[in-house]
Amino acid sequence: MPNPIEVRPAQAQDVEQMYALMLPFMQDNTLISRDQDDIFEHLQEFVVAIKDGNVLGVSALHVYDTDLAEIRSLVVSPKAQRMSIGHQLVKACEAMSQKLGISRVFALTYIDKFFLSQGYTVVAKESLPQKIWTVCVHCPKFSHCDEIAVCKNL
Ligand SMILES: CC(C)(COP(=O)(O)OP(=O)(O)OC[C@H]1O[C@@H](n2cnc3c(N)ncnc32)[C@H](O)[C@@H]1OP(=O)(O)O)[C@@H](O)C(=O)NCCC(=O)NCCS
Repeated sequence: MPNPIEVRPAQAQDVEQMYALMLPFMQDNTLISRDQDDIFEHLQEFVVAIKDGNVLGVSALHVYDTDLAEIRSLVVSPKAQRMSIGHQLVKACEAMSQKLGISRVFALTYIDKFFLSQGYTVVAKESLPQKIWTVCVHCPKFSHCDEIAVCKNL
């Protein structure tokens, strides 16, 4: 019987593979660019999906304040997409958020359909000032951002 996919907190030994998986999506601007040092620095935020020692998916939960966290750096290997790994990673981030006592989670995405099928709703970016005035404001696409903000109350 084939090994199942495990979703678990990221470990230091995963970082090289995490970075390799994220890299093409950072290069095409789907994901915000992060280097390996940045991933190490925020390692506690990350979960990974692993099969047979291979990192097939990555996601992170970043906390803003008492009632808001963001799912970011979400990516599933192109060879393993449409197998529910993305859903499992989102669920793991939501569970992390609940453990931390944070009941509102959002994401900025180009694939709103993926989040809408998991109970998220589209919201105005202006409803997320914590993100807009700390991160987005430094983004070159700030004035013409085409990402969709989605949010869920857990
Ligand atoms: C978005 C992403 C993480 C989804 O991961 P996944 O493991 O393929 O998703 P799941 O299998 O859990 O869910 C699949 C469902 O999500 C939706 N979905 C997933 N990818 C989609 C896409 N590219 N376009 C439209 N809908 C999509 C569909 O409803 C799909 O259901 P279906 O296969 O029955 O049509 C993955 O496509 C990915 O890594 N994309 C590139 C990186 C990226 O865009 N990251 C930013 C996301 S915020």
